[in-house]
Amino acid sequence: MKLALVSLFAFLQYAVANVEKTVFISPTAQPPPQDASIDNLLLVTLSEGVSTFRTELEPSFPTKSEPHGTVHWFLLEGLRPTTRYEVRICWMATQPTSFFLQAYDVDTAFANAELLTSLSDYSYKRHDKLTEADKELLQRRKASPNEDSTYLFLQIFAAADYYSLNNTLMTTPPPVAVDIILDRYIFNIFPRSLLSTGLYLVLLAVGAWFLSGWISALLVKPPNAEEISKKTD
Ligand SMILES: *[C@@H]1O[C@H](CO)[C@@H](O)[C@H](O)[C@H]1NC(C)=O
Repeated sequence: MKLALVSLFAFLQYAVANVEKTVFISPTAQPPPQDASIDNLLLVTLSEGVSTFRTELEPSFPTKSEPHGTVHWFLLEGLRPTTRYEVRICWMATQPTSFFLQAYDVDTAFANAELLTSLSDYSYKRHDKLTEADKELLQRRKASPNEDSTYLFLQIFAAADYYSLNNTLMTTPPPVAVDIILDRYIFNIFPRSLLSTGLYLVLLAVGAWFLSGWISALLVKPPNAEEISKKTD
């Protein structure tokens, strides 16, 4: 029953839009890195308080050096330690794209030369595009800079996934509108944001069970069972 419900959730998600996701366990809390290098990256941050972000991501056609397309980086912060989460990315079927998501804890990302290069390249490009107001806003977001917290880097690759006779579309794929959603799992079983859908389905299932019992009782029971038994006495 539980399994059936869970697979039904998955199906519902896919019915609404194209969805790709990554599931991970958050790390333990740690103090912010001493040199505050995470803040200087100026990445868009998702947390339980700000768990949805709507944006446009630039895709590119896969190449030998970038088999998954163009990379984008986000920061996940302030998650409950050692808890199961997922990040979903949803986009419209009219913008054929394949996404590839992966979360890395800070130590892993900083210890891997390739990830670190990718992260800093992305950050530099972002610095150039951000306005002064954007930068100020991003730097002011930290309320309590010295508290321990959980940090993860979220890597999202976007690859254009279509063929067109239009040269413009084939050389510069247009940005894809996406929703990026951070979701904590309840009891490590299903995502919190789908809880109301889950309850609705359970109510529906229980209701249907009683209703079917009632209907079959009506059908099985002869209309005047008591009278018949009296006559045969
Ligand atoms: C090619 O696609 C672009 C972007 O959608 C559009 O502006 C342009 O008119 C198209 N060109 C042709 C020849 O259809």
